[in-house]
Amino acid sequence: MSQNKLEENLKQLLAESYVLMLKTQNYHWNVKGINFQSLHIMFENQYADLFTAVDEIAERIQSIGACTPGTFQEFQKLSTIDSENVSKGSKEMLVSLIEDHKKLVKTAKKLVQTAQAVTDDATTDLVVTRTQVHEKHLWMMKSTLE
Ligand SMILES: [Fe+2]
Repeated sequence: MSQNKLEENLKQLLAESYVLMLKTQNYHWNVKGINFQSLHIMFENQYADLFTAVDEIAERIQSIGACTPGTFQEFQKLSTIDSENVSKGSKEMLVSLIEDHKKLVKTAKKLVQTAQAVTDDATTDLVVTRTQVHEKHLWMMKSTLE
């Protein structure tokens, strides 16, 4: 039962990370305004991090003996984060990404509890690191908005 929950939580983390990667890359391409250069680079750093993360999470799912989802349909179904068409100003982009990274921290923290319940140290380690990275992105984006 807990193993099922572990798989389910990992798949959610994968799906949300993947959707957020696409959304962030979309912002990287479409951001406009006086802060263009810094936000263009910040968003690139974020989607590059997510690109590495999705592979690590997907391969962790395989390592625990489960099957990794890998289609947009599955990711959309599993994710509480939506990709979207961009008609936003740069400030609204930051506000929206802050909400998304908060969601990912929430998903990651839930997953840490599940992994600890089945003493899966490798998953715990991976997901604690993901939490730290999302919290760092949150700090940087909040500081940019001030
Ligand atoms: Fe680029």
